[in-house]
Amino acid sequence: MEIPFNVVDYLEDTIHSVAKEIPELGEEFHPDVRTADPKFGDFQANGIMSAAKRLKMNPRQLAEKLVTALQNSPKLDSKLITISIAGPGFINFKFLPNFYPAWLKLYHNEKAFQKASGNIYHNKTISIDYSSPNTAKQMHVGHIRSMVIGEAIQRMLRFCGATIIRDNHIGDWGTQFGIIIMGVKEFNYDLDAPHADPLEDLEDIYKKGNALFESSDSWKERARSELVKLQQGDPQNIKLWEKVNQVSYAAFQKIYDMMNIHFDVVLGESFYRTKVDRIYKELTETGIAKESQGALIVMHSPDAGNPQSYPFLIRKKDGASNYSSTDLATALHHVEENKVDEMIYVTDGRQQDHFKYLFKTVNQWFDAKGYKKPEFKHAWFGTILGEDGKAIKTRSGTPIKLKDLLQEAIDRAYTIVQEKNPTLDEASHQHIAKVVGLGAVRYADLSQNRTSDYIFSWDKILSFEGNTAPYLLYAIARIHSIFKKANIPIDSDFAGDLTFETHEELILARKIMEFPVALKHAIIELRPHILCTYLFELSVAFSTFYSANKVIVEEENIRNKRLLLCAGTLQILETGLHLLGLETLEKM
Ligand code: ARG
Repeated sequence: MEIPFNVVDYLEDTIHSVAKEIPELGEEFHPDVRTADPKFGDFQANGIMSAAKRLKMNPRQLAEKLVTALQNSPKLDSKLITISIAGPGFINFKFLPNFYPAWLKLYHNEKAFQKASGNIYHNKTISIDYSSPNTAKQMHVGHIRSMVIGEAIQRMLRFCGATIIRDNHIGDWGTQFGIIIMGVKEFNYDLDAPHADPLEDLEDIYKKGNALFESSDSWKERARSELVKLQQGDPQNIKLWEKVNQVSYAAFQKIYDMMNIHFDVVLGESFYRTKVDRIYKELTETGIAKESQGALIVMHSPDAGNPQSYPFLIRKKDGASNYSSTDLATALHHVEENKVDEMIYVTDGRQQDHFKYLFKTVNQWFDAKGYKKPEFKHAWFGTILGEDGKAIKTRSGTPIKLKDLLQEAIDRAYTIVQEKNPTLDEASHQHIAKVVGLGAVRYADLSQNRTSDYIFSWDKILSFEGNTAPYLLYAIARIHSIFKKANIPIDSDFAGDLTFETHEELILARKIMEFPVALKHAIIELRPHILCTYLFELSVAFSTFYSANKVIVEEENIRNKRLLLCAGTLQILETGLHLLGLETLEKM
């Protein structure tokens, strides 16, 4: 029997193939394998219960049949695994103590994990649209979510074998430009002169311009005509628009550099504005879109989620493209140019309707034209709340700028790090503060189920206790120091009789083996918090093990098997945090 990386998948597949040959169970039998209560075993198959109900059979008898067949299968070696029936018909699998060291030796570092995971998304090309801020505005706290969730998802998918296209779909063609251009002209702002923070100035101009816009119809008219001039290609307005985008891109880039985020495709909405005519034509000729008072609309019928018909506007009355038409053009672009199999969008939950009807529209259109349809997924997220439970704001009520939040994280971490380890040199303090501070902000976001809102609290995210980045980073540094103190390389070949015996050894070994299960679950759901929860549980299991079982002991067999567990924990914690986009440290 080969030692499988993902034990749950292996058991599922094996049981499935064995059950196929049992007439009562057959092809549709679903084994439903999960981790078990350690009292009974390591993993448990629950599928017999529902099968017996469906077949109106005695579950115990059915379980016995299946177990006999499993025991005869060469895929389950009785020297490595025992099978038993518990209760009315649950099937328990218990790994014998020599299974774990074999697993740990085979899957011993990031490369090996990646090799063993690479088949999950092998041959799949996936585009993922994340970050995607609007120009002429600074990023505020809320922008962090799309960025860090998108980054974690793309890293996990790539790790599991997908070819990834990271797409930053910048909002650079919105109605904000009418007001901005009006403001720049009205307030004589010289975009070419040097400015300390030009994006901040532009935001200011936007605010003042907007006040004018709201104040009278003549200002409204003026802003509108600047926008029309821009859309018609007026050279002066195009130049201003380009300059504003340039300034915005430069400010975004500073944040991406800090967060170590890179894209493969950075195309603004403006790139697609010339590609929308084909969209209007194809959607009209297939009868999917209809003109209505000059606008072009796709009317979607009521469905389970919405009792009303939904008009999906794809061309405005004045003939201009909009958010939906450029998104339709983007989908076609990725399918034709990049041959994507799947498209993922990471945005705020308030855009759920937009994406629902975008996907519906593309599916109808591609069906009508016979284009290959990709699979669409909207990975949406909730809001970050302040400690008062309301949308997070500065004391004066303005949105918190992302760059300020990130700097504050580093500054706060610096103070903590200096207190914890005053003897380190200044350069180390600064490096550790950056990794811990930025990691803490990132991890706080990722460790929450993305579809819930969460409360942002400095004390909580920077705490060394609980499910936080500092806790995990510290666990990693501690394991590094075990190896350093003993002067033993982490990737040593830990030889000897490595049979695990103590309760803590066994619990930790089993937890380590759950890594592939948690990773797969996280990518199928596109929910990084599943991986976070797992990593936290792993470091708790490690802590328990480490305080109950002395590692550096005289006896070589015991020392080696415990070091093997330390190395396994370390490799998974590091790999896991890297997949989430965090950097890790060897000392703290
Ligand atoms: N620019 C949009 C915003 O800030 C997000 C864009 C998301 N991507 C897309 N293809 N619609 O809300």
